[in-house]
Amino acid sequence: MSKPRNILVTSALPYANGPIHLGHLVEYVQTDIWVRFQRLRGHSCYYVCADDAHGTPIMLCAERDGVTPEQLIERIGREHRADFADFLIGFDNYHSTHSPENRQLCEEIYQKLCAAGFVEKRGVQQAYDPERGIFLPDRYIRGRCPRCAAEDQYGDSCEACGATYAPTELGEPRSVLSGARPEQRESEHYFFRLPLLEGVLRKWMHSGSLQSEVLNKLEEWFQAGLRDWDISRDAPYFGFRIPNISEEKYFYVWLDAPIGYLASFLNLCQRRGLDFDAYCRRGADTELYHFIGKDIIYFHGLFWPAMLHVAGYRKPSAVFAHGFLTINGQKMSKTRGTFLTARAYLEHLHPEYLRYYLGCRLDAGVDDIDFNLKDFQLRVNSDLIGKFVNIASRCALLLQRHCGGRLAERLDEPGLFQETAVAADPIAEAYEARDYARALRTVMALADRVNQYLARRRPWELARRDPPPSELQEICSTGLNCFRQLAIYLEPVLPATAERVRRFLGVSGWSWEDAARPQLGSAIQPYKPLHTRVAAPDVSALLQASAPAQAPAAAPVRSEQGTGSVAPVIDIKEFARLDLRVARITRAQNVPKADRLLRLELDLGEAGRRVVLAGIRGAYQAEELEGRLTILVANLEPRKMRFGLSEGMVLAAGEDGEGIFLLSPDQGARPGMQVR
Ligand code: 2FM
Ligand code: ZN
Repeated sequence: MSKPRNILVTSALPYANGPIHLGHLVEYVQTDIWVRFQRLRGHSCYYVCADDAHGTPIMLCAERDGVTPEQLIERIGREHRADFADFLIGFDNYHSTHSPENRQLCEEIYQKLCAAGFVEKRGVQQAYDPERGIFLPDRYIRGRCPRCAAEDQYGDSCEACGATYAPTELGEPRSVLSGARPEQRESEHYFFRLPLLEGVLRKWMHSGSLQSEVLNKLEEWFQAGLRDWDISRDAPYFGFRIPNISEEKYFYVWLDAPIGYLASFLNLCQRRGLDFDAYCRRGADTELYHFIGKDIIYFHGLFWPAMLHVAGYRKPSAVFAHGFLTINGQKMSKTRGTFLTARAYLEHLHPEYLRYYLGCRLDAGVDDIDFNLKDFQLRVNSDLIGKFVNIASRCALLLQRHCGGRLAERLDEPGLFQETAVAADPIAEAYEARDYARALRTVMALADRVNQYLARRRPWELARRDPPPSELQEICSTGLNCFRQLAIYLEPVLPATAERVRRFLGVSGWSWEDAARPQLGSAIQPYKPLHTRVAAPDVSALLQASAPAQAPAAAPVRSEQGTGSVAPVIDIKEFARLDLRVARITRAQNVPKADRLLRLELDLGEAGRRVVLAGIRGAYQAEELEGRLTILVANLEPRKMRFGLSEGMVLAAGEDGEGIFLLSPDQGARPGMQVR
């Protein structure tokens, strides 16, 4: 085994104004696999993250929802934590950038930048919304593209032709917040003098192990010339106020977000008595890695190492960038019905299936990754279940029924075990290099070899002899020992499965090296099937769940844009196709492991009875609904969800953050009545 390493790892901090979606999960799964791999190899590896809680969008989102930013980030933080836990993302700490540790570190780092002469104050002209009294980020201005004349384009770039420009170049500009024409106003801002650090950055980029794509990007920016970076924002702004200046200015969210990595780790160190400086101060002989999306290389490859350098902190050992996720070859988009939230996925499918699939698609590059639903189903069923799980299901029952549930003292085919053992090194190299696709291909090729061996030795036929021959136990033990080796190799990707395999084999823990030693002579526990196949309806239900009208999982009566605009007009015939019925909720129960779902039993009078899984648990206690009347979409195609079949949909009103309001008819309505 190599010398134990001390590693600190982060994933990018998700914004605290929206749900975790599958695009986010690429990164958290990629990082988590790497972290679990390091730990399995015996290294110390801390994994920290936090919600990115500051900035204008979060402030405006809270305002729109009628809550304070603190209330909003508290709620979103809770949801993010639950999503990550359910996807088995094993953070050591999940914090928030709106924390005392982050404020302390931001102030300290900023003071050091000032003291070293890297901060300069100067006036800037900026777009200002005179009605709302707020300076507008570029994204909050829309107008006509100066290049292709497409209407309604963002203030910084055109979605129609890809042009980038300044908001002042837009035709007929208007504020997204009020519709007012923005004015240009002068304001004093604080700038970080990045160009002074070009030498430091060039040295850093060649000392670390950066991907060629990241190096090329950095080189491009150096060629174009580095520019000073505006690190301040005007009030109103949700963030940390810049200390020791008379004006009311705030740190720009992108200044305090990466410092949030350190703050989350500081919080962990304080709770666990760890040495923060040994990981973070200049000269630390530990390793620091940031996993990020390719869209934020600029911040992590330039500003962040530059700030760390001036403030006396260590620079990252590397920044690992990855590509974006597409769904069936399409960009994730609410309007295209390809926006899949983590929670919607969990309502239909097992989290480890996604971890496995993403693992199969991830390598060390920055190319985009496609979540192709057919391929997903195929890989899970044919590889994970058909190859890996199949070994255990073929051998475990035979060993239990015919060999007293005990592994043999010797293996029938030690050569196969040895072959699987020597693959530990190439698989480890692939994980280390973040080439999980290669690691998993190697594991599945080994699983093929084990299945071929079993097909050749046919233990199920030997078991039919009376009495079964003694080699039956040795054959099944060979199969199960190879299965154990593969479970060790798969543990970074499938941690919950690995835990179940350990329980089945009666062991409390293992390390990567244990794959070299067979487990002989010990008793195994009764075998419970590890996974079931993914059925086509589960996968199509997933896509249905991504449709915008179903995003909050109940039956929101709303358009995607909120109450401000309505869906396209339909005629009376189209409306008449809906069978809306009054229904009485006769029974309501929580659905175990589905935080947002209630199982409702509905009485429709003469129209029968239905069971519906409704995403309204955040708003209602199960008991309070029993006996109440509501409205059901009775002719909606039943949806097979992971927690059962949902036969229709109850209607509720709701906007994100404002709660969910179940619809009810006036007094006198009776179950089964049609709603017209
Ligand atoms: O791009 C984003 O989603 C940012 N919230 C990432 C921040 S990463 C880090 F710098 F904090
Ligand atoms: Zn354009």
